Amino acid sequence: MNPSPIGVFDSGLGGLSVLREIRALLPHESLLYLADSRYAPYGEKPERFVEARTLQVCEWLVAQGCKALVIACNTATMHAVQTLRETLPLPIIGVEPGLKPAAAASRSKVVGVLATANTLRSAKFNRLLTSLEGESRYLCAPGLDLVARIEQGDVSGPEVRARLDTLLTPMLDAGADTLVLGCTHYPFLSDTIRAMVGNRLSLVDTGSAIARQLARKLAEHDLAAAPDTVPQDRYASTRDAAHLRAMAATLLNVDTLAETVVIEPAPPL
Ligand code: DGL
Repeated sequence: MNPSPIGVFDSGLGGLSVLREIRALLPHESLLYLADSRYAPYGEKPERFVEARTLQVCEWLVAQGCKALVIACNTATMHAVQTLRETLPLPIIGVEPGLKPAAAASRSKVVGVLATANTLRSAKFNRLLTSLEGESRYLCAPGLDLVARIEQGDVSGPEVRARLDTLLTPMLDAGADTLVLGCTHYPFLSDTIRAMVGNRLSLVDTGSAIARQLARKLAEHDLAAAPDTVPQDRYASTRDAAHLRAMAATLLNVDTLAETVVIEPAPPL
């Protein structure tokens, strides 16, 4: 039995959508959420920056005493999970777009995929895509400014809806009936997307699968907290704790303290 926290990391606020699922499944685990909002979005940054910065912030989480890490960011997972697993001595759970569950759910076998540009061009994503050839047709599109807007707390404004309309209309016209939310920020757009497309698209995100994978890893490594543990969560941002606190309240309905942390110098861009 191990009461140490689980580190949950994202470039910004998107990982809160994964944290929500972990909190629901593992109510006795303490969570340390780190939003690297000073350097978000990662989706358009050079790949070597994403890899080096992800390693740097994960080393910080390890130094805080975390017993396991969840890389709650598809972009960071795509570019850094292998390096993290080779470097850090603790269980590391990454995320990847849910292409396989989407193919299983789709009746038309045409699946839309929204993710960051960096995720879509990564070798890991393209290997996944190739391995699923024949299961479905995948129509991939980069979400462009959606992450930046969600970072500002905008999940349903006119620009967000206009952007979604531009991205989703060609997918619907091509017969897509399922949409992969391949960036952890996008589940916060679910209500807006549903209001726009009704039940013409089923939405697939992997937050609950990640929480289950984490539970399995904790059990496997004998790292779970005792069932009577009262969790002590921490929320940290590299940019602005007040903003993280406000966003956790808006997006998760959680009233929490938050802290601003300095993890510098960042690798060169
Ligand atoms: N939330 C992240 C993801 O899942 C990345 C957002 C970004 O920083 O561009 O890909």
